[in-house]
Amino acid sequence: MTFTHLACTKCGATYDKGQRLNLCACGAPLFARYDLAAAARDMRPGHLELREKTLWRYKEVLPVENPEHRLCLGEGMTPLLETPNLGRALGLPNALVKEESGNPTGSFKARGLALAVSMAKTLGATDVCLPSAGNAGSALAAYASRGGLKAHVFVPNDIAEVFLMETLAYGAQVETVEGLITDAGRICAGLAKEHGWYECATLKEPYRVEGKKTMGYEIAEQLSWKLPDAILYPTGGGTGLIGMWKAFEEMETMGFIGPKRPRMYAIQADGCAPIVKAFQEGKDSAPMWEGATTHAHGLRVPKALGDFLILRALRESHGAAVAVSEAEIIQGVKLIARTEGLFVAPEGGACVTAAMKLKASGHLSSGDSVVIFNTGTGFKYVDNMKPLWNA
Ligand SMILES: Cc1ncc(COP(=O)(O)O)c(C=O)c1O
Repeated sequence: MTFTHLACTKCGATYDKGQRLNLCACGAPLFARYDLAAAARDMRPGHLELREKTLWRYKEVLPVENPEHRLCLGEGMTPLLETPNLGRALGLPNALVKEESGNPTGSFKARGLALAVSMAKTLGATDVCLPSAGNAGSALAAYASRGGLKAHVFVPNDIAEVFLMETLAYGAQVETVEGLITDAGRICAGLAKEHGWYECATLKEPYRVEGKKTMGYEIAEQLSWKLPDAILYPTGGGTGLIGMWKAFEEMETMGFIGPKRPRMYAIQADGCAPIVKAFQEGKDSAPMWEGATTHAHGLRVPKALGDFLILRALRESHGAAVAVSEAEIIQGVKLIARTEGLFVAPEGGACVTAAMKLKASGHLSSGDSVVIFNTGTGFKYVDNMKPLWNA
C-alpha cells in the first residue's frame, strides 16, 4: 500500500485517503501522495519491461490499490514517435511526437478518467459528472459504463455531434449548455451538490491528474530514463502539464532520474490564452479570459483551477507559454499530416506550429530533443476544422 494520503497543493493541509473528496477546504486542488521509498522497491526501471502495456504498469504510484477496482480499456503506453520529416520541416531534427490519439475514446482524457472513475467506484460513488469540451465527457462516460456507474456530462451547445453521439452511446446523460465550459461547470457543480454526484471536473478531484501524470513516466521510460530538453503541451485546464511535473518530482525522489527537467511549454490559442498572458505579465495566477473562442475546443478554457501550478511549472522549468492563431492551428494539423501521416486534433496542430514559433524565437534550438504532444484524434474534429480547412 504505497498511496498514503491527500495533500493540498496550496496550503499543505492533509487528508485521509479513504474519503470521497473534491477540493481542499481552502479551495485549492488536492494531490495524492505516496510512500515513494516503498514504491521504488517494487517499481525499479529494469523491472517494468515485462509489465502490461497500459498506464497501470505504474501501479505503485497510482491510487487504486485493489486490482479489481482498476477500470481498464487499454489506456496509456502510447507511442513516442520519431518524426524525422516533421523535425526537418521544423528545424528540430530531434522532434518526437507523443501520440495520444490511440487511447480509448480517442484522446489522452482516457488516462485521467480511468483513474477518476476507478477511484469514484472504490469510494462508493454511484454517479459521476463533469463539464467537458467533448473528449473528457466521452471518456468519463466510457469508464462509467465499464464500471457500472451513471455519468452526467455537461457540454457547450456548439459541441460537434460526434461527441454527443459517442457519449450518449455509452449510456451517459448529456446536457448541452449555452456558453462555455465554465458555464457548463457551474451548472454541473450545482447539480452535483443537489444529487450527491461525485464531481470529476478538471483538478476538482485528486485522481485525474494521477492518470495524466503517467505521460511523464512513459516519456521517461521510453527515453531510457533520460528526459527530453523540452515538452510542448496544449493547455486548457493544464492537468497533463501539472501531472507530468508531479511525475518528474516523484521519479527524482525514487532515484529514477536526476534533477534536470525538460523546459515545459504551455501552448494555447490566440482566442483563449489566459496562461500565456499571465506568464508574460509575471503573474502567479491567470484571471478569467473574457470572450474565449477557438476551434480547438480543448483549449477553450477561460479560467483554470490549477493556473498557479501551471505557471509555477513553466517558470521552474525555464519554459514559456505561447499562443497560436486559428490559421496556424490548421497549418500545424496539415504539416504533421503531410510529413508524418498523422491526422491530429487541432490541439496537437497548435503544438506543431508552436514548435516552429519557439524555434524562430530562439526558445528551442536544433540540438534540442523536443516532445510535441498530440492529445487526440483529428477524426473527431472534422466538423470543427471544416470552416478553416480551405481558408
Ligand atoms: C484533445 C485535447 N487536447 C488538450 C486538451 C486540454 O487538456 P488540459 O485541460 O489537460 O489542459 C483537451 C481538453 O479538453 C483536449 O480535449
